[in-house]
Parts: sequence; C-alpha cells; structure tokens
Amino acid sequence: MYNIVRIPGDGIGPEITDAVCKILEASGVQINWIDAKAGEGVFNETGNPLPDETIEAIKKYRIVLKGPLTTPVGAGFRSINVALRQKFDLYSNIRPAKSVPNVDSNFRGVDMVMFRENTQGLYIGKEHWVDDEEKHAESIAVVTEDASRKIITAAFEYAKKRGRKKVTLVHKANILKLTTGLFLKVGKKVAEDYPEIEFQDLIVDNMAMQMVINPSQFDVIVTTNLFGDILSDLASGLVGGLGVTGAANIGDDAAMFEAVHGSAPDIAGQDKANPIALLFSALMMLEYLDENHAVERIRSAVYAVLQDYKEDCTPDIGGEGSTTSFTNSVCRILKN
Ligand code: NAI
Ligand code: MG
Repeated sequence: MYNIVRIPGDGIGPEITDAVCKILEASGVQINWIDAKAGEGVFNETGNPLPDETIEAIKKYRIVLKGPLTTPVGAGFRSINVALRQKFDLYSNIRPAKSVPNVDSNFRGVDMVMFRENTQGLYIGKEHWVDDEEKHAESIAVVTEDASRKIITAAFEYAKKRGRKKVTLVHKANILKLTTGLFLKVGKKVAEDYPEIEFQDLIVDNMAMQMVINPSQFDVIVTTNLFGDILSDLASGLVGGLGVTGAANIGDDAAMFEAVHGSAPDIAGQDKANPIALLFSALMMLEYLDENHAVERIRSAVYAVLQDYKEDCTPDIGGEGSTTSFTNSVCRILKN
C-alpha cells in the first residue's frame, strides 16, 4: 500500500483526477490517497493558494499526483507549480513523448524522453531594469556544475535503468559559452561513466529542426530550463499534443506527477476533459515506484480503447464520448 498525496486542483482537475484514480484502482495497485489542496479554489476559500497542510503532507509522504492549477494572470498569487518545484528542489522535469495509436499526429514511432533542468537557467526570475525609463531590461541565467551534474546524471540513470540507448544533450555553447558551455562540459564528463550509452550533443536550433525532420532518431534528451520548456512542448506536438503527454518533477526527496496541460476552464464540469495526460503522468509515478507490470497493463488498456473503442474517447482526440465513458471503457478492459 502506497501513501500518495493527491491534489485535484482547479477547473477540469477534479474530474480527471477522479478518472485516473478509478483507473489505478481497477489495475489493482493499492494506493492510500492523502487529499490536499492547492490553487485558485483553496485561494478563494482561505486566501492561501498553497496551505501549510499541503506542504506538510508532501514533506511527509513525498509523492504527489497533481491536477492542473489555475494561475491568475497579472495580479493574484505566483505560480504554485513553480513554488512547489522550488520548495522541494524538484530539479528534473521529465516529459516523455511517445506516439499513441489512433491519435492524429504527423509522425509515427516517436519515443523520446526529455529531461529539463527545472530550477536554474533563465527561469530564476532575476530580471531588472538598467535605466529609470524602463527601456532597457536585463535577465540573469544561472548554471552551476552541481545542478547540471544532477540533471544529466538523472537522464543517464534513467537511460540505463530503462534500457535506452542514447542521450542527446542540447545546448547553445557556441554563443552562451559560460552557462550552457558549462552544462555541455559537465555532460561530457558524466557521459564517460556510461560507456554503454551513446552520447551526442546538439545545438538547440539544429535540435529544433532535427526534431521535426526525424524525431524517431531521439531517445533520452537532457537540456537546460528554457530550451527544455520549449522543446518539450514541441515534443508533445509530435505525438498529438498536450492532451496525451504526462510529466514528472523529481528531486532527491520528493516527486510530483502532473499533466502538462492547464485547468481548461472552458470545458470544466462538462465531462469532456481527456484524462489521458494525467493518467500518463500517473504511469510515470507507477514507474517511479517500480510497478512496471501495472504500467504495462494500463498502457495496453488505453491503447486498446484508442484502437477499438475510439467512440468512447473524449472529443479533443476525435472521440464521441466523455471523461466517464473513456474511464469506464479502460476500467472494463482492466477488470477482464
Ligand atoms: P489549458 O491547457 O488549460 O487549455 C488550452 C486548451 O486545451 C483549452 O481549449 C482546453 O479546453 C484544452 N484542454 C486542456 N486540457 C485538456 C484536456 N485534458 N482534455 C481536453 N481538452 C483540454 O491552457 P490555458 O487555457 O492557457 O490555461 C488555463 C489555466 O491553466 C491558466 O490559469 C493557466 O495558468 C493554468 N495552467 C496550469 C498548468 C499546470 O497546473 N501545470 C499548466 C498550464 C496552464
Ligand atoms: Mg512550458
């Protein structure tokens, strides 16, 4: 029995979280959910978008399944997703992009996993005005040897454990010679410890082109924060979009699994939301727990529904069904 913190979140969050929990239950994995709150809903109730009880629960149980959270634009609170990543030093943002059957996309046979450094780079938010007229802004990027080694090692360890053959490190060391140059230098050093895994480095602009010309050449990818943000959405686009991509944020002491899409307020409460992205994040959670048999069973059941019962799927991927019909269809296959 695993104790896992569950944060349903805002908008479609509660519907898709409920769907995912039903599917996990049907697979036979024993989970004791610890319910916790974060986001706009609890902010409106209490004035705090990230209650102390939620932080304490994560500290105690260390594994989190999280639905999307609404972040108000402009005024209001800062992104809770970013706050959680920083608070628990969830330095690896991991996003697999794998072709799924019977979902429209321009490519087949894509199966890559992107490791994005989640705590540094240009995203530390150190920006300032140089002048008083606010016509000249500067931003600082931070790259350290330690943080680079941690994320690059995480990528190689994942490749080793999952029998993957190649790690591609993405950088811009020709121009950003110190920051991404350091990242590349650390990558070359770490690669020496994994002689069985092919190591390649590519400059980010070339990488973007290669990914849309021949995405199946890539296996595990590791890169800095900004490049990873952009390229991981690109990777999702190669396999049918954000509706079918899961994500994990993993540190040494805690791990948080979440869908990459947002809270979709336009369809919230209408039983239309596609739970596949959050489900695939939950499968990453089961992989993290080494529940590999359950992962395979659930993935096969989802593929079977996509192939043979497409009408049960949600409209965003061309189905005629609902969150409920998709969930029931997957559970029926799992229970057979
Ligand atoms: P969004 O991803 O919520 O929605 C974009 C479009 O995709 C909408 O048309 C929506 O209906 C559709 N969509 C998203 N997920 C879907 C699903 N599972 N099934 C079917 N259709 C789906 O992005 P948007 O509208 O830019 O953001 C809405 C809110 O979500 C904002 O407050 C934003 O800050 C937040 N957000 C939260 C994230 C997180 O918690 N990880 C990530 C991205 C956005
Ligand atoms: Mg992003």
